[in-house]
Amino acid sequence: MPKSTRYKPKSKRQTVESVRTLIPREQIQRRIAGMAREIRRDFPLEPLHLVGVLKGSIFFLTDLARELSGDVSLDFIAVSSYGDRTHTSGEVKLTRDLDASIEGRTVIVVEDILDTGMTLQYLLRVFEQRKPRRIRVAVLLDKPERRIAKVRADYVGFKIPNEFVVGYGLDYAERYRNLADVGVLTLGARVKKT
Ligand code: IMP
Ligand code: MG
Repeated sequence: MPKSTRYKPKSKRQTVESVRTLIPREQIQRRIAGMAREIRRDFPLEPLHLVGVLKGSIFFLTDLARELSGDVSLDFIAVSSYGDRTHTSGEVKLTRDLDASIEGRTVIVVEDILDTGMTLQYLLRVFEQRKPRRIRVAVLLDKPERRIAKVRADYVGFKIPNEFVVGYGLDYAERYRNLADVGVLTLGARVKKT
């Protein structure tokens, strides 16, 4: 059984948050190496332009990039959709654009998680207008049950159930990104301060 880590609230925080490990770090690393091999098998000789969606994809992108052989370049884009909550508003806004043109390039969009698909649908629309040679999508996690938009990823690390996960780049209110494992976040009931 996965181990459970309990993060005690520091002082006046009103809920108890706990994280139960869902995918341990070793398994994440092994799978990313496998994804890199799949990508290179599909594009053995092409320069690959990895576009990371900030901030959730940073650890995934850096690990994936280092597992990829050959010519690889990086860029980043940022969108906002979630705010500080565990539920999506369905709205996507571009908050930081790419540094470089993607015209004529083989682009791999690198995302932490594919949930409703609204973010990816928006990004693919933006990117397709910029005439890349081709676009593929790599996501570490996929929650297929929650899908609203008609999008899919070409490379999926792990399919997961409909639970809110944190760690390895994924956050809850900007926290937990630095955990090396992916875990399920549980928000407990209010606790009385003694
Ligand atoms: P989508 O637009 O609903 O597919 O959501 C994509 C974005 O929502 C991801 O890039 C994450 O930033 C965020 N997100 C979705 N599910 C989770 C989760 O379980 N934990 C943390 N962030 C999530
Ligand atoms: Mg994200």
